[in-house]
Amino acid sequence: MEDLPATVIVGGFYGDEGKGKIIAHLALHDHPTVAARGGVGPNAGHTVEYNGKTFKLRMLPSTFLYERCRLLIGPGVLVNPKVFLEELKMTGTESRAGLDPQCSIIEEGHIQRDKADPHLSQIIKTTGTGIGPATEDRVKRIAKTAHQIDELKPYLVDVPLAVNQALDREENVIIEGTQGTFISLVHGTYPFVTSKDVTASATCADVGVGPRRVNDVIIVFKSFVTRVGAGPLDGEISEEEASKRGWSELATVTGRQRRAAPFDFALASRGVMLNSANQIALTKFDVLYPEVKGVRNFEEIPSKGKEFIEEIEHKTGAMVTLIGTGADSMAIIDRRREVSKTKVGATT
Ligand code: IMP
Ligand code: MG
Repeated sequence: MEDLPATVIVGGFYGDEGKGKIIAHLALHDHPTVAARGGVGPNAGHTVEYNGKTFKLRMLPSTFLYERCRLLIGPGVLVNPKVFLEELKMTGTESRAGLDPQCSIIEEGHIQRDKADPHLSQIIKTTGTGIGPATEDRVKRIAKTAHQIDELKPYLVDVPLAVNQALDREENVIIEGTQGTFISLVHGTYPFVTSKDVTASATCADVGVGPRRVNDVIIVFKSFVTRVGAGPLDGEISEEEASKRGWSELATVTGRQRRAAPFDFALASRGVMLNSANQIALTKFDVLYPEVKGVRNFEEIPSKGKEFIEEIEHKTGAMVTLIGTGADSMAIIDRRREVSKTKVGATT
């Protein structure tokens, strides 16, 4: 696993699994030369914490902390130019960020339509960021694309070409997915889903990479399950109970209260299958086991915690290689080197 050229990171539940934190660690540790964001668009909010600073990214890849990484957005992604330009400033990455000329543009009208549509806003309970209506316009082939927007001209890059050339040079490339498998338009709990497929294959297609070029698919699970918006959530607990357990969270983009449930092994197993994931990143492990807060060594995990990890591996057929033990990008147990000697499982 040390010679990995392309790694795809996807969400395993309903989004908000902590992909930003995992990707930030991969950036600091693996030094990718290129990261390309696939997925839906600025309905996502990836949070990166580092040295007491918090960054919330809705458009740029979460690898920006490694300052030699190019930050690209694939043609499959919807772009809100205002959000993109603000994030360039916030992260100071103007010189190394780019987006594909074919990215669809989210306009103010899309946001208004999303918020005003009673089906979207009240039944599906969307993020109100214009995602569904902008996708509709793309499908109708009337959407504006990035090459038509003057302010975006300096940042236009042929993203599939840049990513594939980096792979040709055997450089380390990260393909960043957004949302989660079970809010995929195709594989999720339809109709309570987002407006496109967000599994690993779709994420690769978003940035112009075919399935033969991917070595590792890392699926991210939080140690408990959360969901925002409408739709089924097995084992859902009350808000009061969630807050007692320390599982109470507010959504990054909308500020809404996230619904919560215990870790769902059946869903995890299906998520691994749908994404052909060979590795699992488990986040917020310190919320279940406070004694692991900040721990970086697997051996320091209490035996109950190890049993939980073994159960996940047993039931999904994939290895838990990354374990988040706190919000900071450095608070993580990285077992990839250790377990690469054993077989990092294919799905069963
Ligand atoms: P939309 O993607 O804004 O159309 O929202 C459709 C559904 O997906 C709603 O239930 C949203 O709450 C959910 N959703 C979309 N993006 C995210 C995300 O990044 N994290 C969590 N839920 C999301
Ligand atoms: Mg999020």
